[in-house]
Amino acid sequence: MFYSDEIIEEVRSQNDIVDIISSYVKLNRKGNSYMGLCPFHNEKTPSFSVSGSKQMYHCFGCGVGGNVFTFVMEYENYSFVEAVKYLADRAGIKLPEGEASPAEKRKAEYKSRLLEVNKEAAKFYYAQLKSSHGAVGYQYLKERGLSDETIRRFGLGYAGKTVSLYQYLKQKGYDDELLKDSGLFTMDESRGAYDKFWNRVMFPIMDVNHKVIGFGGRVMGDAKPKYLNSPETKVFDKSRNLFGLNFAKSQRSRQIILCEGYMDVIALHQAGFTNAVASLGTAFTGLQANLLKRYADEVLLTYDSDEAGVKAALRAIPILKEAGLSARIIHMEPYKDPDEFIKNLGEDAFRERIRDAQNSLFFEVDKLSLSYNRNDPEGKTNFTHALAKRLAQIEDEVARNNYVDALANQYLIEKEMLRRLVNQYGNQMLLNLEKGMDLSPPLPEGERKRSKPEDGMRQSQKILLTWLIEDNGLFGKVKGILSPRDFPEEPYHTVAELLFEQYEKTGQTNPAAILSHFESTEEQKEAASMFHAGLSATMEPSEREKALNETVIRIKMKCLEEAGRNVTDIQQLQKIIQEKKELQKLHISLK
Ligand code: UTP
Ligand code: MN
Repeated sequence: MFYSDEIIEEVRSQNDIVDIISSYVKLNRKGNSYMGLCPFHNEKTPSFSVSGSKQMYHCFGCGVGGNVFTFVMEYENYSFVEAVKYLADRAGIKLPEGEASPAEKRKAEYKSRLLEVNKEAAKFYYAQLKSSHGAVGYQYLKERGLSDETIRRFGLGYAGKTVSLYQYLKQKGYDDELLKDSGLFTMDESRGAYDKFWNRVMFPIMDVNHKVIGFGGRVMGDAKPKYLNSPETKVFDKSRNLFGLNFAKSQRSRQIILCEGYMDVIALHQAGFTNAVASLGTAFTGLQANLLKRYADEVLLTYDSDEAGVKAALRAIPILKEAGLSARIIHMEPYKDPDEFIKNLGEDAFRERIRDAQNSLFFEVDKLSLSYNRNDPEGKTNFTHALAKRLAQIEDEVARNNYVDALANQYLIEKEMLRRLVNQYGNQMLLNLEKGMDLSPPLPEGERKRSKPEDGMRQSQKILLTWLIEDNGLFGKVKGILSPRDFPEEPYHTVAELLFEQYEKTGQTNPAAILSHFESTEEQKEAASMFHAGLSATMEPSEREKALNETVIRIKMKCLEEAGRNVTDIQQLQKIIQEKKELQKLHISLK
């Protein structure tokens, strides 16, 4: 490990997991723990649980789990060392310097060299745009109404037909492996290496720290594809970045304008709306929503007014809501997108559209209503049911009632009837929720296929470790019966050893500290899964006792069988047979 165990444990214990996770995810108290919507998979009902006493989290839906380090690693895409640094900084703990492992250092260095390549590329494209070769590109951007100042601020450039970025960077001494990993080139065995971007105007994509992580390139005519984007690389993750956020994050309105395209963002910024961002040619993600939550409370959606744009908006709204952001829709009719709107009607008109932005639920219902013929009684009935189902999902009672009132008026539905229908659907949903809350919540389809079939022995070991952590009193009860030796396989063995040791030293266990003993994310995940194997709290005491005894017998029997296979003399074998007999009689009482 790169830092000492002591310092890692100090950093961990100074960062309360409930504090940290609630700065990313909205959590609600449920008994001894907190529940929220899992940030690592899409879900509508919370199955992500955070335990303050264990200082761990676990998602019953997708199976992720761990301590405060693994959370930050997953969420921020940090390495372990980066996570330690980040959390130490947050808690005001000074870390000893120069302790990163050679492997970590190499990885960090490689990333910064990739960023350097991107920066050199951006400078090259910008210089091209300003050179005689780039006149067509410059002309194109000017015709689209961009000022020199805007072009400079966004670092727009031009990838030409004659001068090759590849040659330029080779001359500067960058090697082929690095250049290949930058995603800016195609390496072809017969034809050699050549530039991926060719005769396009270039839009550098920056992360929140103004580092160029990738590019979008637009053709200057009608050729396809209209935009070509960098592939994902070690420094470019499309689901975690937003175009323009590096500028938008410094404005103080707590309001973000979310649009579809690069040009929309740039046109809006030029018109003074410096809070505009766009997702990067892909669907808007939960990670992007959580990123926005750091800088905003409200998101104004200005997706294109065509069918695809409406669909994209309808997909984005629940994602924004899940992240705890409120959403409104800016309408741009009769124009297609903000860029065209501003060009035709100017910024004052756009400011008005912002003021008149539509409540996102009204927008949803508006679109919903389009798929029914409400002049026909049957169509109206179906619409009323669909509407009631949607309204039943609103948790806040006051808000729900206000929407019932408003929408009943708008769609000429009898108010009391709509209210009753909404309550009916609400009760039905609660019922389904309770049913889903039994011992092992069913995994969503697809998730189930992904999880490995777990061998029964491993499962038993996990369950036992979970029980020991949840109820430290058990250590006394299994004393002399169970020891770390009964967990022969790694990583169970290490976990058991550390747990027993903690209990002996302090009389209690500290599972979150155990995770820090594992270096790789894989091992940490596997170890974390050991602490969430069963939901024993929901078991009757007698059931628990029975399950405990069966599990202990199972584990010990396996060890004895293993030992039986390896013995060479008859005395040893007899001893094992005797022990097996005794084991059958074992009874641990929980009273
Ligand atoms: P649009 O097709 O709406 O283009 O794509 P636009 O933003 O109005 O572009 P201009 O005004 O014609 O230049 C919206 C966004 O979707 C991504 C880009 O991020 C684009 O800005 N996109 C679109 C691609 O990545 N590839 C494409 O081929 C098209
Ligand atoms: Mn456009």
